[in-house]
Amino acid sequence: MKKRLAVLGSTGSIGSQTLEIVDKIEQIEIVAISCGHNFSSFSKQLSKYHPKFAAALERNENLVDSFPGTTFFHGEEGIETMLEKSRPDYVLLAVSGAAGLRFSLRAAEVSSRLCLANKESIVCGGNLLLKKCAREEVELIPVDSEHSGLFQLLDGTVRPERIIITASGGALRDWPKEKIHQASPEDVMKHPVWSMGNRITVDSASMVNKGLEVIEAKYLFGFESSEIDTYICRNSFVHAGVVYNDGVVKLHVGRPDMRIPISYSLTYPARHDLLGEERIVGIPIVLEELQQDRFPALTLAREICGTVSKQIAYNAADEIAVDAFVKGRIPFGSIYNIIERTVAGTDDQNPTDYSQIIEIDGFARRRAKEEVNRWYCQ
Ligand SMILES: NC(=O)c1ccc[n+]([C@@H]2O[C@H](COP(=O)([O-])OP(=O)(O)OC[C@H]3O[C@@H](n4cnc5c(N)ncnc54)[C@H](OP(=O)(O)O)[C@@H]3O)[C@@H](O)[C@H]2O)c1
Repeated sequence: MKKRLAVLGSTGSIGSQTLEIVDKIEQIEIVAISCGHNFSSFSKQLSKYHPKFAAALERNENLVDSFPGTTFFHGEEGIETMLEKSRPDYVLLAVSGAAGLRFSLRAAEVSSRLCLANKESIVCGGNLLLKKCAREEVELIPVDSEHSGLFQLLDGTVRPERIIITASGGALRDWPKEKIHQASPEDVMKHPVWSMGNRITVDSASMVNKGLEVIEAKYLFGFESSEIDTYICRNSFVHAGVVYNDGVVKLHVGRPDMRIPISYSLTYPARHDLLGEERIVGIPIVLEELQQDRFPALTLAREICGTVSKQIAYNAADEIAVDAFVKGRIPFGSIYNIIERTVAGTDDQNPTDYSQIIEIDGFARRRAKEEVNRWYCQ
């Protein structure tokens, strides 16, 4: 029997790569897709996949008229309703930002497997989501390449002493430290290895992405941030590692191509020969120390890791600051300052339900916007 898949955030970088590979995986069929506002790309996907269900943040009469075989929903509630009505076996969650959490929580109620690219779901609601998945017996398979690597390395036998996640270093990795503050959106968008959505590309240069991933790894795999090492791997061939107390280190190595962890999350525990075997001869496997003083956002993420309200504030402030940076309102270096001030102004709390998470997120966003306005007016 084919597994029925819903792809949320289908018009984004991860979502569109998911549709591309699902074409080649016979045992999966697309039952539902959702987007935010990119209707031109969504329309092409609808005409190619003819899903039974679709949803977008806004209603679009043209689409409703053009695809009579598809049932449409709109708004964030509509995306949740689409999940309820379509009853997918698997949900691949590729929405960006904290907005993804409500969909992850709903996916854990209606499906049997959550393939999770949206790391913000874990950063903002890790305990809540993991408990729900355990209660509903839903498999949570990470899609982030580092966490997919760790998921494959951690075999449930002996607990390693430490775990490793790597970073490419982003577009500014070789810039002199004093110049980084003034980097332009064009500079930052030239990622040396990966082609990704806007926010994660900026977050790679600031190392906020690695900060979010350290937090994600803590909740997914139960390691304290002090047990999670981060290194630079320039060609991104090493994604993750585990370090045992007998001198053994296991690394997860492979081509930097998000289609691999996406495919693994869909076919697990089987492996699909989608891209063929990797040839590793001649490929340098080199890890470099990460210079902490170049990446204060990663240090801050380590400090707040485990205090959920501050994790929510860290993510919310970054979403606001990155948007302002991409629009040319603030310099690159201010992203960190805005995060740091927003986090400092957020009380320590460990919210236990979704409404508390949303309240803290809203508070942090308002505060971060004030900080953006302050920088903008200077
Ligand atoms: N890109 C990567 O290589 C990569 C790797 C690892 C993890 N991730 C994670 O995967 C997630 C997606 O990243 P991405 O790079 O694919 O992002 P992206 O290219 O910006 O795509 C985001 C998708 O989410 C939709 N969306 C945005 N806000 C929404 C909302 N409030 N409600 C419903 N849909 C919404 C967008 O719709 P429209 O575009 O139609 O508006 C788009 O389809 C992020 O959490 C990211 O950290 C990405």
